[in-house]
This record gives sequence, structure tokens and C-alpha cells, in this order.
Amino acid sequence: MIEPISGFSKLTKDQKIAWLSKTYLKSKEGEKTLRQYWNEDLKLQNLHDEFTENSLSNFYLPFGIAPNFLINGKLRAIPMAIEESSVIAAASNAAKFWQTRGGFKVEVLNTTKVGQVHFLFKGSPEKLERFFEICKPKLHDSVSDITANMEKRGGGILDIELRNKTDLIENYYQLHCKFETRDSMGANFINSCLEKFADTFYSEALSYSVFTSEEKDLEIIMSILSNYVPECIVRAEVSCSVKELPGENTEDAKAFAEKFITALRIAEVEPYRAVTHNKGIMNGIDAVVLATGNDFRAVEAGIHAYASRNGKYSSLTHASVENGMFKFWMEIPLALGTVGGLTNLHPLVKVALEILQKPSSRELMEIVAVAGLAQNFAAVRSLVTTGIQKGHMKMHIMNILNQQNASLEEKRQLVDHFRKQTVTHSNVIRELEKLRTLDSYKSVKK
Ligand code: MEV
Repeated sequence: MIEPISGFSKLTKDQKIAWLSKTYLKSKEGEKTLRQYWNEDLKLQNLHDEFTENSLSNFYLPFGIAPNFLINGKLRAIPMAIEESSVIAAASNAAKFWQTRGGFKVEVLNTTKVGQVHFLFKGSPEKLERFFEICKPKLHDSVSDITANMEKRGGGILDIELRNKTDLIENYYQLHCKFETRDSMGANFINSCLEKFADTFYSEALSYSVFTSEEKDLEIIMSILSNYVPECIVRAEVSCSVKELPGENTEDAKAFAEKFITALRIAEVEPYRAVTHNKGIMNGIDAVVLATGNDFRAVEAGIHAYASRNGKYSSLTHASVENGMFKFWMEIPLALGTVGGLTNLHPLVKVALEILQKPSSRELMEIVAVAGLAQNFAAVRSLVTTGIQKGHMKMHIMNILNQQNASLEEKRQLVDHFRKQTVTHSNVIRELEKLRTLDSYKSVKK
């Protein structure tokens, strides 16, 4: 029987691996693999170990580039960290397609972030309102040492509002606070301000003589930023004449536009489709968010909440044809940083940001949104024409061959063979077996 372990985090990395090996791993293979992924450069390995608690090894993801993205007139190569075989190829295809059709037009619409102090107050809402107005300047003053630097960079606290939520939960109120955090994602800044607000609000209430003793005893439940940022929005768009859309002739191109728009309408009204449709968008978004050291969980949560803002989960992208022009666009919330966090720590993140020419957080919002829109264009284009499997399996063939321990020569021959053949898992296995039988026949004959 497995016994719980106490003080695990205090063990050395070697001791942790030894315990893991003894307790959970069946063979020495697991232990060997964990060590195999250590970096030879001890300083670098140490940096990675210190990112998180109980780190045992490194977990690789491919880091690739999708070039030829024309964004607001500037040609960019977009770094992406992703394991799904076809994502970078699809992004590159979409980039190439739109590069000759005016490129991507992107605009950051606003950059406001939100945090809340949630508290319970038993008493007169009017008295609380008056107290809040008196206390508000004190709340601002109480965080002046935290906000000084941010204000120098043009950011800070934009607003603090008292919100009465007693219709939802008895005695429940919020300090709903808005922030501008410039090039940082701002989580630490926002949370530090909120915790200070909570302390100040609580202690000021205690000494507010107009409150009864019950009113003075307001209860702070929690203080935390919100990853829902519907006022931190970026809009990305592509457009071209319908005639320039894929197809042998104008009629084909028109039919493509119609089918594409119908596919988007389906994703707008049908949640089963919308989730997969938006997942395809997130293939592009997450890959850039990860490569640039940002918090993809925050981005995911915020975007999916936004996709449900009208009470039903729906497509993030939209398309139309007006006066012979095809337009395809998306608006999404994105809270990103290009300073702080992992951005100036992780060596590959630093390279990614250098590839992007050291973008501001607004520029990174634009680039990430474009990666999402491009990904969705590529996916829907495949879906309404060839189907998704053709392109996907072409890229996936390497994974199938690696699972079968194919040699370099076998890979070369089979990738060549499948250039013009349909790739399915069973077709690849069959061809590999054929090749192996032929090879063993040849070696016996020798
Ligand atoms: C696969 O990772 C993503 C797609 O399913 C997206 C979509 O269906 O639009 C291809």
C-alpha cells in the first residue's frame, strides 16, 4: 500500500525522483527519461527548476515559426509552441493566402482590466454607499506606493465602484475596480492593489462612527483579479474581393464564400459546432500565448466566457459578403504582457519576443488575435472544401511512423509515397509493413 509522504517539497530533486521511482514507476526507464530531459547547462536547468515547486524534469513542446504574416502592413514571423501537427502548417498557409490580399488589419479597441473585492455587509445599503464615497480617496491613497511605478508607465487605477449584488446573494457587495497595466499582464499589480483596498476598506469601516456595530463588522470574502476582460478587446479582420477567394473561377469562389459563411452561421447558432470552431481559433492563440510566456489558462477562460456573453456559447469569428467584398473578422478579449512574469526569464520566450521585434502588449494582442483568425480561416477553408483529414493526416504521418519506430529511410520513402495517397492510420501501417517485408526479403536474398 502506498503511504502518504510528508515534507516532499523539501527533498532534493534526486531524492524526489528516487521516491517516485520506488513508489510509482515500474521500471528504471521512467527515471532515466526524467533525467534525459535535463539540460546540460546547469544554470539553465536551475532556472527552469525554480519556475515551479517539485520540478523533476522539463516538458518539451515544439517551438516553430509561421512566417509571412502581413499585419497592419508589417511582415511578421509568428513563433508558436504547439504539439498538434497541422497547426503551424495551417497558420502558414493562411498567412500566405492573405499576404497577397492586403494582409490582416488589427486594432486594439481598449485595454481595461478588472479586479474585485468581494465582501458581505449586513446593514443599510444607503449608508454603505455614503461610506464608500468617503472611503474612496483613502483607497486610492492606500496603494500609492504600489501604483507609483505603474503610473510612471501611464497605467494605474482607473476606477473603483461599489456594486450591490444582494439580489444574487444576501448581503453580497463588491468593490469592482478597473486598471490599466500597460505592457504587463498585471496580475500581481492588480492583486496587490485589491488586497490593500480590502484591508483599508475593512479598517475604515471599523472606525466609521455612522455604522452600527453590525455594519462595522463587514466581512471580506476575497480579493482577486478577474480573467474576464470584456473591456480589453482586440479586433482582427481580413477582406478581399469574392473573386479572389479559393476556386478555379468566379463561380467557385462565390460558392466558397457562401459555404464559408454558412459554416460560420452554424458555429454562431449551434454550441456543439461553436466549441470545436473556437477550439480551432485557440490552436493559434494558445500557441503564441505559450511561446511568448503568457498565461494561456487565463486567456482560455476569458475568451470562452466572452464567447458566451449573450447567454449562449457562440462563434468568435464572423463573415459577410457585401458589395462583392468578402469580410472575415473576430473580436476577442486578451490580457497579455510583454514585461514581467516569464517574459524576461525564459530564454525561449525572450527569443520569441525578439522574433516579434519586442512588441508592446497591445502589439502582442494584435499578433495573437491574427494567429487565431488565420487558424480559423485555414480550418474552415479545409472543412468546406477538402475536409480536415487530408491536410491533418499529411502532417500526422510522422507521429504514426515514430510510433512504429520507423527508420529515417522508411520515413523518407513513406512520406514520399503518401504525397499523392490518402493518409489513414491503417494505410500507413500497411505500407510500412510492405516496405519492411520487402527489405527483409532483399536482405535474405543477399
Ligand atoms: C482541430 O484541432 C481543430 C478543428 O477541429 C477546428 C474546426 O473544426 O474548426 C479543425
